[in-house]
Amino acid sequence: MNLSRSIFVSGGVPLQGNDQKLTVGLGDRAYDIILSDVLTAENLKPFAAGRSCMIVTDSNVGNLYLAETFSLLKDAGAASVATLAFQAGEEAKTLATVESICRTAVEKHLDRKSVIFGLGGGVPGDMAGFAAAIYMRGIDFVQLPTSLLAMVDSSIGGKTGCDLPEGKNLIGAFHQPLSVQIAADRLKTLPDEQYLCGLAEIIKCAAIMDEPFFAELEANVEKIRARDDGFTRRMILKTCTLKAKIVELDEKEGGIRAILNYGHTFGHALEKVSEFSILHGQGVAAGMCMVLEMGEKSGLIPGEVVRRQKALIRNTGLPESYDMDREKVYQALFSDKKTVGGKLRFVITPEMGHAEIVTFQPEVVREYLGI
Ligand SMILES: NC(=O)c1ccc[n+]([C@@H]2O[C@H](COP(=O)([O-])OP(=O)(O)OC[C@H]3O[C@@H](n4cnc5c(N)ncnc54)[C@H](O)[C@@H]3O)[C@@H](O)[C@H]2O)c1
Ligand SMILES: [Zn+2]
Repeated sequence: MNLSRSIFVSGGVPLQGNDQKLTVGLGDRAYDIILSDVLTAENLKPFAAGRSCMIVTDSNVGNLYLAETFSLLKDAGAASVATLAFQAGEEAKTLATVESICRTAVEKHLDRKSVIFGLGGGVPGDMAGFAAAIYMRGIDFVQLPTSLLAMVDSSIGGKTGCDLPEGKNLIGAFHQPLSVQIAADRLKTLPDEQYLCGLAEIIKCAAIMDEPFFAELEANVEKIRARDDGFTRRMILKTCTLKAKIVELDEKEGGIRAILNYGHTFGHALEKVSEFSILHGQGVAAGMCMVLEMGEKSGLIPGEVVRRQKALIRNTGLPESYDMDREKVYQALFSDKKTVGGKLRFVITPEMGHAEIVTFQPEVVREYLGI
């Protein structure tokens, strides 16, 4: 079954000034993604005016942008603005942090009409969303993503949650935001390796859904490496459009949304074996290369598709492979929560711009890994 053949992608709707708007069409839960250069009180107003607001962020992003976001919400007419900044990093993505968000909300008198703003990368975004999903059985929230990964991936689609000691993202809820507001100037302070992690998800989306976009990435490697503002905005808009389409087709990941896990089966295993010393996007990049190689060996992926994707990954500065204990990588594949009933399911790209989900026999995976 070719899962992604029917996706059609159009551009964003231009708004006033330099803003662009995309709509995630989910009926009564539809919302807009606003892509602008800077965050403005005007854009926040529809969600903040007259309401008790709370900003949830991490220590890094808080130091950079909390004061400004606080003022913008005040200017937007918020009745009150509470704030909470937890220690930056995946280690803080716990139920304890979610509890502290909810308890601060009680202390600051947030009620069922209040709204939580997730300011930061995927970690604050996922937890702000999850706290909003469960506080008083669910209140509104808005995503204010500041990492490239959050802008193109985690802030869109309503997956919220936190980790358990047993594994990542094992607790969560689907809870769509009221709005996603992407201010591209935030990327100026994002470290290069974090930018590359977002880029891995951009390459992933192009590879599984949109060959012309993939070709555009190939033709603009220099701009990508230079983090060119205009081209970065172009990539954000395009990838948000692709992600929004998938979410519209399959909000709760019953089917096609699973193709977004391209590169993630091996990627998660690499992250785990490295004890999370490699970043998620680095794992995804190398994971895409691994499934490409395995698929080519099995006669499922043409050499040209493999060559193009590996070249783009390499040329943009992402890793193609990691030298790790391959027996451990194999074992880690089975601990992924997306591996059901002992079967190893992988997303592959039998053609550039198209994805399929296939099952590989464990022996084939072992043979590929050389164990
Ligand atoms: N909900 C989803 O659909 C979804 C999808 C993909 C990933 N995720 C989750 O997202 C998380 C990863 O997201 P992430 O990579 O953004 O992690 P993150 O939130 O930890 O951000 C990465 C680092 O960049 C810093 N940072 C963020 N924006 C910055 C800025 N503008 N300037 C300077 N520093 C900045 C952060 O403080 C942090 O140190 C994981 O927990 C993952 O599970 C969720
Ligand atoms: Zn990912």
